[in-house]
Amino acid sequence: MLEIKSPQTKQEWEDYFDLRYRLLRQAWGQKKGSEKDALEDKSKHFGLYEKGKLLAVARLDVHEKKAQIRYFAVELEYHGKGIGKVLLNHIEDYCKAQQINYLFLQARENAVPFYLKHKYNIVEKTHLLFGSIQHFKMEKCLVIND
Ligand SMILES: CC(C)(COP(=O)(O)OP(=O)(O)OC[C@H]1O[C@@H](n2cnc3c(N)ncnc32)[C@H](O)[C@@H]1OP(=O)(O)O)[C@@H](O)C(=O)NCCC(=O)NCCS
Repeated sequence: MLEIKSPQTKQEWEDYFDLRYRLLRQAWGQKKGSEKDALEDKSKHFGLYEKGKLLAVARLDVHEKKAQIRYFAVELEYHGKGIGKVLLNHIEDYCKAQQINYLFLQARENAVPFYLKHKYNIVEKTHLLFGSIQHFKMEKCLVIND
């Protein structure tokens, strides 16, 4: 049984940022702490749990009717098992419920096929993170049925 919620306890927040750090920072020699930025308090956070174990994380930065997905990561040994799909669908449903009709993100090159599969379009090739990770801006318009 999967549960998606914002982390709440101190331990859940530690696990949340630790997963982010391990999946999105550590392999590129980045220091602990580099997985956070100044917008954490203003953002919406999603943790996907199975029997209390954190399997995936994502952050949503909302700007009125638009929102940016950031720091999206699935625990390594759970890749390719449909976990990312469940989390992305949940975020899109959340956005629709909030009348947010436009999602965008900066996708790492390795994640581009995942977002293409979910009908995100490539807008443009953007920055190179840590001197090696090519990013692509991607976007999707959500259809909101009232
Ligand atoms: C990218 C990532 C989030 C995908 O999550 P995942 O749980 O492995 O993906 P899923 O198993 O839910 O895949 C969903 C669909 O996308 C497809 N897909 C996922 N990754 C793919 C890839 N690299 N190439 C082609 N298709 C891919 C799957 O085949 C699946 O298709 P299906 O619905 O027809 O079966 C995950 O691999 C990850 O965390 N990577 C490391 C961190 C990262 O790069 N995050 C993105 C930052 S922008």
